[in-house]
Amino acid sequence: MAITAGVIAAAPMAARQDVALKDLMPKGTVIGVAINQRQSDQVDKAAVDIITKQFNQISPENLLKFQPVHPAADRYVFDAQDRYVQFGLDHHMQVIGHNLVWHQQTSPWVFQGADGKPADRETLLARMRDHIHTVVGRYKGKIHGWDVVNEAIDEDGSLRKAPWRDGIGDDYVAKAFEFAHEADPDAELYYNDYNLEKPAKRAGVIKLVKDLQARGLRIDGIGNQGHWRLDTPSIAEIKQALADLHGTGLKVMYSELDINLLPNAARGADPSVANPYANGLPDEKQQELARRYADIFATILEHPGWVSRVTFWGLSDADSWLNRGRSNYPLLWDRQRQPKPAFNAVVDVLKRLQ
Ligand code: XIL
Repeated sequence: MAITAGVIAAAPMAARQDVALKDLMPKGTVIGVAINQRQSDQVDKAAVDIITKQFNQISPENLLKFQPVHPAADRYVFDAQDRYVQFGLDHHMQVIGHNLVWHQQTSPWVFQGADGKPADRETLLARMRDHIHTVVGRYKGKIHGWDVVNEAIDEDGSLRKAPWRDGIGDDYVAKAFEFAHEADPDAELYYNDYNLEKPAKRAGVIKLVKDLQARGLRIDGIGNQGHWRLDTPSIAEIKQALADLHGTGLKVMYSELDINLLPNAARGADPSVANPYANGLPDEKQQELARRYADIFATILEHPGWVSRVTFWGLSDADSWLNRGRSNYPLLWDRQRQPKPAFNAVVDVLKRLQ
């Protein structure tokens, strides 16, 4: 089996590290990466070198989610979070906050009432307000924009059943935007979700943001996560989704881009099927990934001014959340932190667009 990152390819690839993605992006579009705590703490020096050289924006992979920042009712944790924000400011990067209201990674105490019953609307609104005011307020003037609500829409376009909604009602999304704007009137506020290339879900998201706009609330942008695969969604679907999202008048961001190369596999599935590239990625797949990234960048950057940010969800294949015990290859840098052919392909597209 042909394995990439061989001797022949290594030299020109290493040379390419002299090129910085951030210097090649169209004016008005920042390029960033979600970083983990070893990176924001600057323990992972090899990663920090690449992050500071290549990117002008960072997102926190986990640190600013509800659970890590607010594990108990009377306890906020800010040490590593402050270092994340300072790391970005020190390197003149756009610092993003992710996220305030979500159905995952939120401490169970939030939804519990005093009597063992689920917390009621007033209790939940007070907790949401306190959380948002405390966290957004702390980084006022430092965090450029917040994912205020994450993944509130279901695949069929309806409002997802979620603990915040169960307790507060359908206006929980509007309330979160209201509180965030109170806490930092200058911060940009975003709605963030995935599978926006699927028409029903996209329609639900557009309806939701139009409702927020109709209520007179501040909303600046839609984060389209962009957790994609090699052949889905199609380039035509990506184009259509971008046009529709742009049609709201809001900024569009690709907030969590990566390309999953592994099949969906049940736990206990045959390893040769579930984990086909355990010993490396065949060259043909490596090239396919490069072409996929080239097509994506050419498509999402086609219209100047439509896309304000592109963020990869992780720096290298070693860092990606998509491994989960298997070997995945979703990003532009490999496990040894060498740029992959996909990196060169993106560089070529960016140069062509200049
Ligand atoms: C993921 C992180 O990458 C993982 O480390 C964590 O275990 C789970 O969350 N959509 C989002 C992100 O909005 O916050 C998720 O991040 C990936 C899916």
